[in-house]
Amino acid sequence: MENTADQIKYPDLTHEIHPVLASRWSPRAYSDQPVEKEKLQRMVEAARWTPSSRNLQPWCFMFGFKGDTVYNVIFDSMVEFNQLWVKTAPVMALAIGITQDENGRVNSSYLYDLGQAMAMLTVQASSDGLYIHQIGGFDHERVSSALAIPAANSVVSAFTVGYLGNPEILHPNLLKLELSPRSRKPLAAFVFDGHFGSKASFL
Ligand SMILES: Cc1cc2nc3c(=O)[nH]c(=O)nc-3n(C[C@H](O)[C@H](O)[C@H](O)COP(=O)(O)O)c2cc1C
Repeated sequence: MENTADQIKYPDLTHEIHPVLASRWSPRAYSDQPVEKEKLQRMVEAARWTPSSRNLQPWCFMFGFKGDTVYNVIFDSMVEFNQLWVKTAPVMALAIGITQDENGRVNSSYLYDLGQAMAMLTVQASSDGLYIHQIGGFDHERVSSALAIPAANSVVSAFTVGYLGNPEILHPNLLKLELSPRSRKPLAAFVFDGHFGSKASFL
């Protein structure tokens, strides 16, 4: 762990977890280093083997690479705050949920399943030394229409992919965020047994 930001972002763990999970965080400063094709292939392969309700696999991922149309469309749809930093990433992508099953009925599990696929993709990327930053702050309608995403496909989130860059390239406000420690609720706030709200006894 040579990068200072990596050190600052390393979590204050209550219990040991897998190093790949512990070292994942969402940067805003990326380097120019391109992402290898093989690593992108492994990311989407990891997503492919995600469990899903009825094995419907209700997800799609659409990738843009710096300079191409998809990348520019995603960038243009970002809120101002995100436009300050996303352009440092060599790859930008969309996580898209398929909202209906094969009979045209609403799949109530699509968001849950897409989220899991995204998590698997992220873990694989992290284990390959890549960093992912998921993004909700963009104009979903604008992206859908500019990229002709068919109805029944819902653009849920965007994300950046790449290698860690020098935080100094960031706007001063973002630099502060990039070098601030990460925080989480304590386990007792969300892990229960006995009755709802009661801290699990195994903690
Ligand atoms: C669905 C989703 C939407 C997010 N939207 C944004 C966003 O619009 N802009 C941003 O800078 N970060 C965004 N984030 C990143 C979160 O702020 C970040 O994951 C959270 O603060 C925890 O930090 P960590 O990922 O470094 O642990 C988003 C994350 C998720 C999962």
